[in-house]
Amino acid sequence: AIEAVGAREILDSRGNPTVEVEVLLDDGTVSRAAVPSGASTGAFEAYELRDGDKARYLGKGVRKAVDAVIDVLGPAIEGLEASDQRLIDGELRAVDGTENKSKLGANAILGVSLAVAKAAADSADLPLFRYLGGPNAHVLPVPMMNVINGGAHADTGVDVQEFMILPIGAESFTEALRWGAETYHALKGELKAGGFATGLGDEGGFAPDLAGTTAALDFLLAAIEKAGFTPGTDIALGLDVAATEFHRDGAYHFEGSQRSATELAAFWADLVKNYPLVTIEDPMSEDDWDGWAALTTEVGSAVQIVGDDLFVTNPTRLADGIARGTANSLLVKVNQIGSLTETLDAVSLAQRSGYTAVLSHRSGETEDTTIADLAVATNCGQIKTGAPARSERVAKYNQLLRIEEELGDAAVYAGRSAFPRFRG
Ligand code: PGA
Ligand code: ZN
Repeated sequence: AIEAVGAREILDSRGNPTVEVEVLLDDGTVSRAAVPSGASTGAFEAYELRDGDKARYLGKGVRKAVDAVIDVLGPAIEGLEASDQRLIDGELRAVDGTENKSKLGANAILGVSLAVAKAAADSADLPLFRYLGGPNAHVLPVPMMNVINGGAHADTGVDVQEFMILPIGAESFTEALRWGAETYHALKGELKAGGFATGLGDEGGFAPDLAGTTAALDFLLAAIEKAGFTPGTDIALGLDVAATEFHRDGAYHFEGSQRSATELAAFWADLVKNYPLVTIEDPMSEDDWDGWAALTTEVGSAVQIVGDDLFVTNPTRLADGIARGTANSLLVKVNQIGSLTETLDAVSLAQRSGYTAVLSHRSGETEDTTIADLAVATNCGQIKTGAPARSERVAKYNQLLRIEEELGDAAVYAGRSAFPRFRG
């Protein structure tokens, strides 16, 4: 049973405070979890509680959330069995009492929720992926490695937020990670040779001031070839547009001109024809349901269309999207919804509805590796956790190396099969 719950303020990868929670069980188990934080956050995300005290951390302190854990959330679940995750998450939501967790903070609630799961796993002496996923957890995800950062994650004029490489042709996760790292290094060389800066953005990818989307994609193709791989068959491409960020007053302010939803959709459809793109996230704004539906109809059979700001890992918004035929994939961010149970509910709704699911980090991360285990636990086959560089990104990839090793011959790397279009 849960004996005590503690919390502290720690720093995330951007140097901003975040919540870390520790759970103590009566068998002596102590487990901890830390909460991530986004920059291009969706308007419909659960509420991230910050102190607003300008004298500390520019107002971004999380002492109120820490106090909520210690004074309210912890006492509410003391005495409960850590393995009763659904019961506990329900209790945490009930003591908050709001729809979007705005009273006590989704950061406080999620920290407790994840630390409880880890304590239950540790107490049962099981790896987290096995505890959460049971005997059938065995699929290693395709890493979507974000190697060029733009948008809200860089200080350049590049509008698309993330340019990703996906080693879909590798035999194992271990090999996929090597291919990605080798391509990352080749990309650095190509950018240098082209006279571009090789400083990094928030997710560990390079942040060159390129002319636009096609220039970035051309650099990716050159880097893949330079590293000795074949674009499309060995390593495919992906984008996170994060279009909400440049949608204002009913228009998309993109690459120097104002575009309608139809014009922007035509731009993406063109890219899908001309580049080996297998996935595009948030190609339309979070409230442009019509734009999303039109694009899904146009290119949804050729490419995975992932809803991030659109769905915010919220089963209710996802159910809405499924009913309307919007997108065909769910981005999964634990802090967008704020508890493990609701996260798993969203993933299972996606999977039951023929949508793929992509486990994801945030641009503000910590050394916590829970999402790596969640990806294997759900057999979802895809994970997005930044460049193959910088420890807060690599921590998740390294955890997947350990899980693949632990599974041994039972491990299956998702590869192309993660994407319905390759399943025929
Ligand atoms: P964020 O970016 O964590 O800054 O929201 C990640 C994403 O948009 O997928
Ligand atoms: Zn996104």
